[in-house]
Amino acid sequence: MSLPETVRITEIRRETRSISTFVLDAEIAQSEPGQFIMLWLPGLDEKPMSIACPSPLSVVVDRVGPFTMALHERRVGSLVGWRGPYGRGFRLAEEGPALLVSGGCGVGPMVYLAARASEQGIPTTVALGARSTAALPCASEFQALGANLVLATDDGSDGYHGYVTDAVRELGLIDARPTVYACGPEPMLVAVHRLCLEARIGGQISVERYMKCGFGICGQCALDGLLVCQDGPVFDVQELDGVRDFGHAHRSATGRRLPLR
Ligand SMILES: Cc1cc2nc3c(=O)[nH]c(=O)nc-3n(C[C@H](O)[C@H](O)[C@H](O)COP(=O)(O)OP(=O)(O)OC[C@H]3O[C@@H](n4cnc5c(N)ncnc54)[C@H](O)[C@@H]3O)c2cc1C
Ligand code: FES
Repeated sequence: MSLPETVRITEIRRETRSISTFVLDAEIAQSEPGQFIMLWLPGLDEKPMSIACPSPLSVVVDRVGPFTMALHERRVGSLVGWRGPYGRGFRLAEEGPALLVSGGCGVGPMVYLAARASEQGIPTTVALGARSTAALPCASEFQALGANLVLATDDGSDGYHGYVTDAVRELGLIDARPTVYACGPEPMLVAVHRLCLEARIGGQISVERYMKCGFGICGQCALDGLLVCQDGPVFDVQELDGVRDFGHAHRSATGRRLPLR
């Protein structure tokens, strides 16, 4: 384990009303899309954030609570700390097309994965879901990477009217039997999991659990017998088959097992 390195924020790009990309004066020599860092706000806390770009190191952060709100109040030039990378990332299949399914703040690792797929010449479709058009992050980044972008909004203000997983099914996005890569809210991940099993196609799913150490010693991120920070956060669809807590329960900061809302 490394101690956090303290660096300055060099750029902040507003993606939506609540989501911004934070670019740090740092780079990660070796990492995989889907891996994460522990981001530290001195005097406040340290939280897991997926790598959206390794060089310069960038994270896409949704403002949801005390830590992320405090980060959103930081300005270019502010100091933050980071350590990592941690966890097991996505492993791009060499054969066939890729379908990236993303919702909410799950978009960060997908930007990195789409960039890696583009470097490797893998035909990529990105299915991006949000509540409304104003909440769709990073669409232009995916387009600039040459991905085929399919939008879905809950209110129908842009693209498909409904959940992104219904768009995937109804618009025939799995007809070409792509490998599916997903990151986002757990109900969306459960739907992707079911879809991959039913269609018998390969899939990898990035799961979130409350994390403290980030590298396998505290046990906080337990998902049945798995540690999300070390065995994941990216799991093959088959690895999640039969995992009782997936889609059902998570652990609070004190380790209490609670139902997923
Ligand atoms: C591997 C991984 C990668 C992540 N990547 C991103 C990302 O790229 N962008 C992004 O915006 N968010 C990401 N998150 C979620 C992010 O860590 C939480 O949103 C953040 O910690 C919320 O803290 P808060 O104080 O702002 O909100 P809170 O009000 O404390 O919590 C809001 C939500 O975040 C969860 N959360 C709080 N603390 C933690 C923690 N230590 N570990 C995990 N979840 C926590 C809570 O359970 C709750 O669901 C990731 C989480 C994990 C596990
Ligand atoms: S966060 Fe400590 S074991 Fe996973």
